[in-house]
Amino acid sequence: MMKLKRIGILTGGGDCSGINAVIRAVTRAAILQHQAEVIGLEDGYDGLIFGRHQELTLETVKDILPLGGTILGTTNRGNPFNYREYDGEGNIVSHDYSPRALETFKQLGLDALIVVGGEGTLMIAHQFCLLGMPVICIPKTIDNDLEGTDYTFGFQTAVQVATDALDRLHTTGRSHRRVMILEVMGRSAGWIALEAGIAGGAHIILIPEIPYQLDRVMETIRRREELGHRYNVIVIAEGARELGGDEVILQTAAETLQGVRRLGGVGHDLAGKIAGRINREVRCTMLGHTQRGGTPNSFDRVLGTRLGAFAVEAASQGRFGHMVALRIPHLTLVPLEQLAGRVRHVPSDSELLRAAEAVGIGLGR
Ligand code: F6P
Repeated sequence: MMKLKRIGILTGGGDCSGINAVIRAVTRAAILQHQAEVIGLEDGYDGLIFGRHQELTLETVKDILPLGGTILGTTNRGNPFNYREYDGEGNIVSHDYSPRALETFKQLGLDALIVVGGEGTLMIAHQFCLLGMPVICIPKTIDNDLEGTDYTFGFQTAVQVATDALDRLHTTGRSHRRVMILEVMGRSAGWIALEAGIAGGAHIILIPEIPYQLDRVMETIRRREELGHRYNVIVIAEGARELGGDEVILQTAAETLQGVRRLGGVGHDLAGKIAGRINREVRCTMLGHTQRGGTPNSFDRVLGTRLGAFAVEAASQGRFGHMVALRIPHLTLVPLEQLAGRVRHVPSDSELLRAAEAVGIGLGR
């Protein structure tokens, strides 16, 4: 056991529901169990680089449990080791701000840093760890694509948002006899599409792990038509692609210059392809950031609280260089080097895929 006097916490990457539950749990556990001070770094690693921070107290984390987003702010840009910014003349330049970040950590007198983030944020945390910073990570992303943990918090709330959207699209699809497509997030993993598709009774689910064949998609639609069902609901993950085709990217020229790769538009792309082959109207809805925002469901609040409390316990035991993880029903610690850049995809032998096909859902294969 080490005596925790002052710990820092930062939230990096895309926001999601449940981050505030984590911030609250870390703050309360550190203060109530260890009489420690808690410093919140603002806007992800920017807080460390530029020294932006605030003290977190029992008072400041009051009432934030049901609040979406993160009270500390976040960014999914700004890697301290390769910080890209404009030089004022339209050119992008890159800086290594890691020494500044290490200096802030020292100046604030922190014993430990708790980093809440997805794959990119955790990889950076690992780099800092190798430079001697005592770090514990907490997995966060709606994509549920992190190795080493069964679930990330934020995912279940996103699935619920997508499921609610599918429920609504069923009614318009049925009323107008249309093909309704819902594009959901998830980067290169199909977890949100798959779980929401099953929960929301989609007729076709298309995920990145199974490049779809348009003929098979049309076959599912025709089969349903033959059975007298004159509408279809399709959920497609943003990272999905047609067999032999590419991912669909939606980004500005500035984002390309900054090295950002943003997925989006595959649903509209599919709508165009289907519309050319069927005498029905086809519509696409992009759910976008509604999946990340808003009140966390109870699962994500409970998971966030458990992970936050566990991370403080791990810090007090000096177990740095680890991510706290859920291996149902337990929480455990996973060394950061085991995660390095690995993304968890839907496995080809997934029981979820078998269940989907068993109940007649088309997977485009
Ligand atoms: O990783 C979370 C996520 O929402 C992905 O599902 C999505 O591809 C990406 O972030 C979108 O990022 P941004 O908020 O930068 O558009």
